[in-house]
Amino acid sequence: MNAKQLVGEKAVDYIKDGMVVGLGTGSTVYWTIQKLGQLVKEGLSIKGIPTSVRTEELAKELGIPLTDFASVDRIDVTIDGADEIDSELNLIKGGGGALLREKIVAAASAQLIIVADESKLVKQLGQFPLPVEVIPFGWENTMKKIAEFGCQPRLRLVDDKPDITDNGNYILDCKFDKITKPEQLNKELNTIPGVVENGLFPNIANMFLIGKKDGKVNVIT
Ligand code: A5P
Repeated sequence: MNAKQLVGEKAVDYIKDGMVVGLGTGSTVYWTIQKLGQLVKEGLSIKGIPTSVRTEELAKELGIPLTDFASVDRIDVTIDGADEIDSELNLIKGGGGALLREKIVAAASAQLIIVADESKLVKQLGQFPLPVEVIPFGWENTMKKIAEFGCQPRLRLVDDKPDITDNGNYILDCKFDKITKPEQLNKELNTIPGVVENGLFPNIANMFLIGKKDGKVNVIT
């Protein structure tokens, strides 16, 4: 079993009957959702809130009941992946383009559990280009403003066309040398007109399940 599957499946230990569960996006939490599908078939009663159309489709395929913010005002636990985790447990997310819904769901959750293999652990954030979701109108100008923060932004493309998020926006992948003050950068980027959200999750997660090559799981709280 690979490290992603190991931690992905392990995360279901934290899901109890009756919970509202935020369902993250990506190839690690994929295994959590698969396992939850199996447990639901065996009688587990939960309601999921998906963080992307991809996750929504997967959950529906597996028969996991879904709900939304019109019906619940709090999420008990969210399980999600990460692209980078620094030594102070700040995150970069959004490699899969789902950062906006992921951040909304994370902010509404009593507990956020991050599942990742050990390759995601870094001393300092910034090796992975920071995804920033922007409104298509005027994106070229928004990109210039973002570059003033000392990064090289690049429009994310699919087949030579802008990659469109689930919310109808574009993603700029912004390469910094290093990100020294994630909390401050997170706030400042979001003040630029045209920026919808960025992929920094400073100090939001409550627990980390880190899958190691030797088959062990490190639990960090
Ligand atoms: C989705 O937009 C991302 O935030 C993912 O959670 C992140 O990219 C982790 O993905 P993997 O588990 O596929 O590495």
